[in-house]
Amino acid sequence: MNKTARPAVRPYIGGNWKMNLRLASAVELAETIHADLSGDAGGPQLDPRIDVAVFPPSPYLMSVGRAMGHGPPSLGAQDLSPHDDGAYTGQVSAGMLDDLNARWVLVGHSERRHGLEEPPETLRAKLVRALESDLETVFCVGETLEERESGDAESTIVGQVRSGLEGLAAPTPERIVVAYEPVWAIGTGRTAHPDDAEEAHRWIRRTLGELYDREFAAATRVVYGGSVTASNAAELFRRPEIDGGLVGGASLKADSFAAICRAAEARLGQTSA
Ligand code: PGA
Repeated sequence: MNKTARPAVRPYIGGNWKMNLRLASAVELAETIHADLSGDAGGPQLDPRIDVAVFPPSPYLMSVGRAMGHGPPSLGAQDLSPHDDGAYTGQVSAGMLDDLNARWVLVGHSERRHGLEEPPETLRAKLVRALESDLETVFCVGETLEERESGDAESTIVGQVRSGLEGLAAPTPERIVVAYEPVWAIGTGRTAHPDDAEEAHRWIRRTLGELYDREFAAATRVVYGGSVTASNAAELFRRPEIDGGLVGGASLKADSFAAICRAAEARLGQTSA
């Protein structure tokens, strides 16, 4: 199955809380996840070679960050402004996120790309800004159901990766994660078949190789998102191309999110250098 040898990469799990929870429940969730993953709850510590981040609503970043101390997980923001400062009502800059100790940021999530109709140029500007800042980025791509059914999934995904990254200097691979999130699988309970997810991940990796080089493509983490649960995570993460997950609904419960993080531990033995 794994014809191209890849170096060992750190599995990546992100929990996107979207516009859910309130301050008290967000802090409680962060404390419980932190206690579980760090071993403070009495169980084993999550293997520190796994990168885990949670993405709370931006007003709660500081409180959630405090609740998690130095992690795990680390802290991420769901969006950033392409601008540094100025007359941009409602926007949040990379510098502000940095002040709140956010380490990661999502760019291109379908609820912004499609839901809010953010155009490719805006997403690219956000990606540029994130890469210029100290933030590490999860860049999300994925096709709609219509695009998949009409045979356009590959061209859509490749086009999204290209419009985000083409012409940009290669980031260090640790600083960017590409999330393949088929729009029809997000929040629907309908997960992509691992074969289809792997195929899409290969399209993404091939495109990264064309934009940069094979080493960059092999070292960059490509994760799957779309109805990942504690029950299907192990099957997805067993696939050599699937370096982890971006999790929505199942990240709102500490036990299911922790179980998904632990499902990624099996990859550590699998992806040896
Ligand atoms: P879901 O969301 O796990 O609820 O499908 C995934 C995402 O939006 O990243």
